Amino acid sequence: MADYTIGLGNNDSQTRKRADEDYIKFWAEQAKNLYWFEVWHDTLQWNPPFGGWFVGGKLNASYNTLDVIVQKNPTKTALLWEGEGGQSRVVSYNDLWIEVNKFSNVLKSLGVQKGDRITIYLPMVPELLVSMLACARIGDSGSKIVITADGGFRRGTIIKLKEVIDDAISGLDFIQNVIVLEHAKIPVALTSRDKKWPDLMKFASPNCEPEKLESTHPLYILYTSGTTGKPKGVLHGTGGYLTHLYSTFKWIFDIKDSDVYFCTADIGWVTGHSYVAYGPLLHGATQVMYEGAPDFPTPSRMWEIIQKYKVTIFYTTPTALRMFMKFGDGIPNLHDLSSLRLLGTVGEPINPEVWKWYYDIIGKKKSPIVDTWWQTETGGAMITPVPGLETISLKPGSATRPIPGVDIAVVDESGKEVAPETKGYLVIRKPWPGMLLTLYHDDEKYKLVYWSKYKTSYYTGDYAIKDKDGYFWMLGRADDVLKVAGHRLGTAELESGFVSHKAVAESAVCGIPHDVKGEAIIAFLVLRDGYSNSETLKNEIVDHIRNVIGPIALPEQLYFVPRLPKTRSGKIMRRLLKAIAKGDDIGDISTLENEAAVSEVQAAFEEVKLSIKKNQTR
Ligand code: WTA
Repeated sequence: MADYTIGLGNNDSQTRKRADEDYIKFWAEQAKNLYWFEVWHDTLQWNPPFGGWFVGGKLNASYNTLDVIVQKNPTKTALLWEGEGGQSRVVSYNDLWIEVNKFSNVLKSLGVQKGDRITIYLPMVPELLVSMLACARIGDSGSKIVITADGGFRRGTIIKLKEVIDDAISGLDFIQNVIVLEHAKIPVALTSRDKKWPDLMKFASPNCEPEKLESTHPLYILYTSGTTGKPKGVLHGTGGYLTHLYSTFKWIFDIKDSDVYFCTADIGWVTGHSYVAYGPLLHGATQVMYEGAPDFPTPSRMWEIIQKYKVTIFYTTPTALRMFMKFGDGIPNLHDLSSLRLLGTVGEPINPEVWKWYYDIIGKKKSPIVDTWWQTETGGAMITPVPGLETISLKPGSATRPIPGVDIAVVDESGKEVAPETKGYLVIRKPWPGMLLTLYHDDEKYKLVYWSKYKTSYYTGDYAIKDKDGYFWMLGRADDVLKVAGHRLGTAELESGFVSHKAVAESAVCGIPHDVKGEAIIAFLVLRDGYSNSETLKNEIVDHIRNVIGPIALPEQLYFVPRLPKTRSGKIMRRLLKAIAKGDDIGDISTLENEAAVSEVQAAFEEVKLSIKKNQTR
């Protein structure tokens, strides 16, 4: 077997040792890496299941990501921005600091106060970071103001963001202002509510005192899918979250002053918040920010960018890698990727073959791969190699071991840790600094979703195996959540999207393996009386889903069926549908549907199969 032991020369056994001895004291030591206006009195206030980190401490996220860096090295490059069409902009920490200060004053002049919420709907442009950090500077958690642009670029076309916003907020009287950045330079309709970015910035003062915020002050809300019909608002705090990011960014990426870091995540996803916005800026890192599709205008777009900016650290998703791999080795091989020294992945399990391709073809067998497991809720990476701390023998397909200072285990239904090499549920047994504060305006749901399956452990919703060397292997979701191209989509959310179409009476959605996207969506629909199967109706329903959820939710296959197979208690037999979609035999499925008699499952299986066949032969 190949040996994937690659060190970066770091062997700090002390950090892990200290974390094991006293995790609370350990995180307090880590928090000292941030700048605090006032020091905390309680490192952890744990009122299960609500955790407050560094309580009493006061800090500011924008101060820590900008002022602290500017005081040391104002000319340091923060952003190497690259547009889809090849335009570029270089933004220093000082430039960013000035823009953020000015924009903070703009927001204040529009009446925004500490505790208000702002909605940001911008493309991947420097002003997106400016907006986020200005909100953080004045103590806002992310809706009376909306910040958007005329348009953004994707695959050579312009997405008219302002139009989308106008549609979304029509009738919402509490929206007082929409700030519009001129990015795509297309004409937009403006009303008195709308303000142009440059007009507001022209006279704004470049000095805005950062608010001294409580460590537990909300930094932002990100909506993500779960097992219920509606997305949940994951609420993150400030001090704990930033401590988690400061430490993990250093441990995982071993960040150096000379590095050029490139994370391909969109800021709309948690990876963009944690490892484009906060993590790198806390360290004064230089990073590439790219607006556009990763394979546009050519499949070599990413490799061109790496070559152009001499990127040293590249962090992307398994879905993107599977796509690049399909394009063939010839494409990356035509580019100079010798600047790369570290590769990362996030968001989904990475298949060992893809891992090896990444390692051999992109990393030329000299760059370690950090497979980072975490969730929107965990705030930052939890299970990952930490080459900035220690040399580790990598295993393709495993995210390796938990970071220091967290307690993660694989347990059975009763909460007991399972034996090595046994599949179980992944849980987190102690509070950690990046943990969500709660679900926005819904403490009960927070308790129910994460802390009711096991009373004293956080339930991740993932299956995993821990091998005999203590390495974790992630096996995907144990709940009704799909991961389509790394995006989290709840089956319940998709199903309610389908039934919101007038022709659909009932729907059931399941995921099946897909060679690029990891998982693809299959939908089974029961039509209302008066509607019948036709290609036109199918297309109409697909368009409807694109509108109500988004292009990521488009089904790979869509079947009309006379009824959905259900257990006696009315639960949809999703596994059965999955078997049908995959063309599997029903054999091993029957035992899983313990609420229904085997003969009933068999009959339902045959009925759905038959109706699909009929549909197809028509
Ligand atoms: C999955 C993304 C395997 C997992 C940062 C988790 C992964 C969900 C990995 C969270 C990984 C994330 N290996 N699976 N390295 N990283 N996942 O909230 O199922 O979009 O529960 O956060 O993605 O998705 P989310």
